[in-house]
Amino acid sequence: MQWSEYNSDLPRDKDFSLAEWLSGPMMTEIAFIRKILSNMAVFVREKYAGRRELTVRSKVNPNDLVTEADLAVQRHVVDRIRAAFPNDSIVAEEEGLAEYPPDANVRSWLLDPIDGTQNFVRGQFPAFGISLAFVVGNEVAAGGVALPMTGDLFLAERGAGAFRNGVLTRVSDVSSLALARVEVDFGGPMRRANTLATTSELIRRAGAVRCQCAAAVSLCAIAAGDMDAYVHVRLNPWDYAAGQLIVEEAGGAASCPDGSPLRPFDAKKGVLVSNGRLHDELLAAIRG
Ligand code: IPD
Ligand code: CA
Ligand code: CA
Repeated sequence: MQWSEYNSDLPRDKDFSLAEWLSGPMMTEIAFIRKILSNMAVFVREKYAGRRELTVRSKVNPNDLVTEADLAVQRHVVDRIRAAFPNDSIVAEEEGLAEYPPDANVRSWLLDPIDGTQNFVRGQFPAFGISLAFVVGNEVAAGGVALPMTGDLFLAERGAGAFRNGVLTRVSDVSSLALARVEVDFGGPMRRANTLATTSELIRRAGAVRCQCAAAVSLCAIAAGDMDAYVHVRLNPWDYAAGQLIVEEAGGAASCPDGSPLRPFDAKKGVLVSNGRLHDELLAAIRG
């Protein structure tokens, strides 16, 4: 099969008719996110069941993977954004769409079609998600993350709270690093030395340390109160933008590891996300 044919593999129920998307009432951004992520979660779950038959290739390095499922999801979501919001810019991980908009103030969408592709391919946990954020003025205004294998859908709009399957979700109230469950996301081999240097004190002092290698999934775990903090020395905005808003709206905090504000289209200085109560102690441990 040619990669260009993978779009034909998508479900064909009425939600997938482009004509219907165009003819229906104008959708709000959050309604669009909810609908598209719900649909794509079903598709990705089916693809995961047949993952051994999928075409997989590596990108800039042998550990950086993309599958035909990543591409099919991206093409489908991008088509739908273009249909529903034709003037918005789109930044997505695959197929040459990773360039930031020249003007960070425009309306834009940030898509990671599958975050945690290594886990998706190897059957790990299985922890992977689909992440979509709507950004205005270099600030995330709405976002969602679907976790196909648990059936969870996390959604947030700025100022309106964060929801897990329609129910308000809150971060944990753990207030001491010595009791905290912290994720250090090691990323690829190129980041390893920097990660170790930045987080060695944190790793020594945290109550528990994890790495599940799917940033969007990890941020949802903080929003759900299951984990307390997450650090990565260099992430792309499609990895964290939706999850950042979900955590902030669930009562948590996000910054760069140096304490500066975390925005989608600034320089990639890394990500520190927490339940909020821990944030100052985390910043001190990282700097230390
Ligand atoms: C990766 C995951 C991982 C992070 C990597 C990302 P991908 O995204 O979010 O947790 O450590 O830096 O590239 O490649 O699975 O979409
Ligand atoms: Ca990613
Ligand atoms: Ca990805």
